[in-house]
Amino acid sequence: MNIVKPLKKVATKLGYEIRQIDWTYDPNSSILRRDLCSQNREIMKRHFLQTEETVIHLRNKYEKPILGKIDVLDLLKRLGECIDPSDTKLAGVSQLAHVLQVAEAMENDGVIDSDLLIAALIHDLGKILLLTDEALENIVGMNCPIGEYEEGIGFDHCFFQWNHDEFAYWRLKDYLPDPVSWLIRYHSILLPESARYMDERDRQYSEKYLIPFQKYDQGSKSVFRIPKKRIDDYRGLIHQYFPEVLTF
Ligand SMILES: [Fe+2]
Ligand SMILES: [Fe+2]
Repeated sequence: MNIVKPLKKVATKLGYEIRQIDWTYDPNSSILRRDLCSQNREIMKRHFLQTEETVIHLRNKYEKPILGKIDVLDLLKRLGECIDPSDTKLAGVSQLAHVLQVAEAMENDGVIDSDLLIAALIHDLGKILLLTDEALENIVGMNCPIGEYEEGIGFDHCFFQWNHDEFAYWRLKDYLPDPVSWLIRYHSILLPESARYMDERDRQYSEKYLIPFQKYDQGSKSVFRIPKKRIDDYRGLIHQYFPEVLTF
């Protein structure tokens, strides 16, 4: 039975008007997205102003732990409190939901390489810095080499902009196989701007890990996709790589 007509009648009698609501939601044209984009541009501008001195300063600043001894599973749960305000695709979705989205997208495609799956879960652990008073331009953003280097010198010999990648790399590297720690360190690089400085190891890891990884990292972001699994469902995998508490 169509109840709109009688409702309309009653509402009109009472002096109200019933109108159809537009339920269509277009994130591309929303005010929210526009605001995020302009905020993002400002943050990125400041991120690309980093110099070698900025990077050295931040490396020294974060030599000491910020949280002390902590289980990686608990650390990942704290990503639930972390929102990246520069991320226009996630638009307020937590970093914990994001890493679960990445892992889920891989699993849906049949990825079973545990190195890629653990990278999906831990690659943004450096965003824990969002819980501190560190400037946003030092936490988020894509990275390029700062200055000019000899071609083929290798990424490890270049200064890149400093962000959550570098922070997490130094905290996690001793627990991870070389390709995974490399991936954590370079997961935000802009490949076309950086490719000429690759050595053989960078080229191999880039082909095998970074290119597929960036596809999932960027491509799975959504404000609508609620991950089916919880972080506790990955407890076995996480403790396989991190059997003990680490200093973060
Ligand atoms: Fe990241
Ligand atoms: Fe990510």
